[in-house]
Amino acid sequence: MSGNTYNKIICGDALAALKTLPPESVNTAITSPPYYGLRDYGAAGQIGLEKTPEQYISRLVGVFNEVKRVLRADGTLWVNIADCYAGSRKGAALYPENAKKYKQGTNRGLIGQKAVTAVTYGECKEKDLVGIPWLLAFALRAAGWYLRQSIIWAKPNPMPESVKDRCTRSHEYIFMFSKSPKYYYDAEAIKEQALTTDAAQPRGSLGTSTLNGGRRKQDGAGNPTYTGFNARYFSKEPPLMRNKRDVWTVAPHPDRTGDAHFATFPVELITPCVLAGCPEGGVVLDPFSGSGTTGAAAVKYNRKYILIDISAPYIEIAKRRLAEAERQLTVFNYGEAANE
Ligand SMILES: C[S@@+](CC[C@H](N)C(=O)[O-])C[C@H]1O[C@@H](n2cnc3c(N)ncnc32)[C@H](O)[C@@H]1O
Repeated sequence: MSGNTYNKIICGDALAALKTLPPESVNTAITSPPYYGLRDYGAAGQIGLEKTPEQYISRLVGVFNEVKRVLRADGTLWVNIADCYAGSRKGAALYPENAKKYKQGTNRGLIGQKAVTAVTYGECKEKDLVGIPWLLAFALRAAGWYLRQSIIWAKPNPMPESVKDRCTRSHEYIFMFSKSPKYYYDAEAIKEQALTTDAAQPRGSLGTSTLNGGRRKQDGAGNPTYTGFNARYFSKEPPLMRNKRDVWTVAPHPDRTGDAHFATFPVELITPCVLAGCPEGGVVLDPFSGSGTTGAAAVKYNRKYILIDISAPYIEIAKRRLAEAERQLTVFNYGEAANE
């Protein structure tokens, strides 16, 4: 691929745009597809307002088949997706031509208006959880992907819900797939501290409280001293590290470009996907790139990006955001050079 084939933003339908990319040319794909029946992006050919979940899943499988073609043999795919509940047959999902008229509440002023959900699926009754993430995961597995992991994105500050007959939803899934049984995965780059500060808080009063076999005592001056595991944890030595776990707690927040975007994922959420899934200098793809978060993460960690989105207004947001990310990087690099 020539130099300018990377770091580009393509406005168009994901399937058609992916077909223009050469095979085996990207290291990892990180994306959040449009959720089913949730939002009308006002773009012809958009995904998410199909009449049935089966049609929606089948379109996504078609897009991800094409992602598989452009991925290197050792490549991975990370898909963030949320679930939905079955509802009555009245909404925009069944009447896409009317969906653009819906505009309400928190959606005011945002691109992508709320599509009144009317999900029906198989024997799902009204109020049943549909299980969209797992429908997609199994469909992609059946299409040849290796389904390697379900990661929980735990949100400490979820969207409030007025429900009183179930818990407030505070998680989404991130699935990791690979194209081959062996693949590039840099576990070292994303290892985490062995214990959280909370778990390590010495419990009770001074004396012999224990933590993983270590003991806490007092020295002659009344200062706490630690033995065993505690000694290592509380010392000034580098902390013990462990393999990253599969529950990632990340607060959702609007991006910092000032372009509020309802469905963005935070850079912090996908940072481990970038670091583990793509070596420095490699290429990260997002076929549903929205405001360009995946591109911003790629730039931040010295990876290249290819972004695709069908919505022209989102493409404009992503262009501004990426121009700023690249400018900041240039300033940063210049600053570093100037200090040498
Ligand atoms: C959940 S949003 C992605 C948000 C993104 N992760 C971010 O951080 O901004 C889904 C995106 O898919 C886009 N989209 C919907 N149908 C599409 C299609 N057929 N091809 C490409 N993009 C599409 C929408 O315009 C929307 O920006």
